[in-house]
Amino acid sequence: MKLDGRVAIITGGASGIGAATAVAMAAEGARIVIADVNEAGTKSVVERIERAGGQALGMAADITRMADNQALVDRAVATWGRLDVFYANAGVPQWKTEVEQVEEAIYDRIMNVNVKGVWLGARAALPAMKKAKRGVFLITASTAAIRPRPGGQTYAMSKGAVVTLAKALALEVAPDGVRVVAICPVATHTPMLPTFMGKREVDAEGLARYEATVPLGRLNQPEDIARTAVFLASDDAAMITGTTIEVDGGRCI
Ligand SMILES: NC(=O)c1ccc[n+]([C@@H]2O[C@H](COP(=O)([O-])OP(=O)(O)OC[C@H]3O[C@@H](n4cnc5c(N)ncnc54)[C@H](O)[C@@H]3O)[C@@H](O)[C@H]2O)c1
Repeated sequence: MKLDGRVAIITGGASGIGAATAVAMAAEGARIVIADVNEAGTKSVVERIERAGGQALGMAADITRMADNQALVDRAVATWGRLDVFYANAGVPQWKTEVEQVEEAIYDRIMNVNVKGVWLGARAALPAMKKAKRGVFLITASTAAIRPRPGGQTYAMSKGAVVTLAKALALEVAPDGVRVVAICPVATHTPMLPTFMGKREVDAEGLARYEATVPLGRLNQPEDIARTAVFLASDDAAMITGTTIEVDGGRCI
């Protein structure tokens, strides 16, 4: 098993990419702290992992609060004695809108969760990893950081910020043997997807329009990202740091 004995914290773990990654990392032997504002969703992912014979615990956490991020790290170390992976995955989308229609409060919300939330996760997790001289800090960015679509400027900017943060942090922590990588998924089948399309639900028109922009002809399933996160968290990726991995079927070419 690729992550045997490891301990991972996954934010936004109640749903979509985070839930799929929690299940995949647990199947590879990791013990998982699932963190989310959605407590019911968190509980159901913990139960799913336990039913499959894995170990997980759920914590209510709002990543925009430093104390919540610190509590996740403290709980992982107190429960299982170590922290190997922190996956800063929680994020919020932007309803498809032109810049002049984006309320300042929406801007603040997107930046607070997608940028400050990741930065706070790094502040909480990296000291423990540096002390242990090992660890991997993963971030879910987006292809929007590299190849934005019209109507998503604020979200794209937030994801660009964390791509740069990954590079800057990677340099800071490399001397301690800690790696930092940003994952850039193309549109992925999760509850977030219709928002990007400016729709209440994904419909045939929206799906066809998005699929037509992906050379491999389909969107991601959450498991496409989960498999990538497992690889990046494992020793197979021991020489990968400071980079962004596009999981995008060729969208960014
Ligand atoms: N779905 C896509 O098309 C897509 C594409 C590229 C990148 N992403 C990114 O992937 C990540 C995961 O999103 P997803 O697609 O799985 O969507 P999702 O809505 O299924 O999951 C996001 C999770 O984050 C949680 N969350 C939101 N704000 C939080 C906060 N302040 N504190 C703690 N948890 C919080 C939500 O409760 C939810 O469970 C996000 O960062 C998103 O921006 C998604």
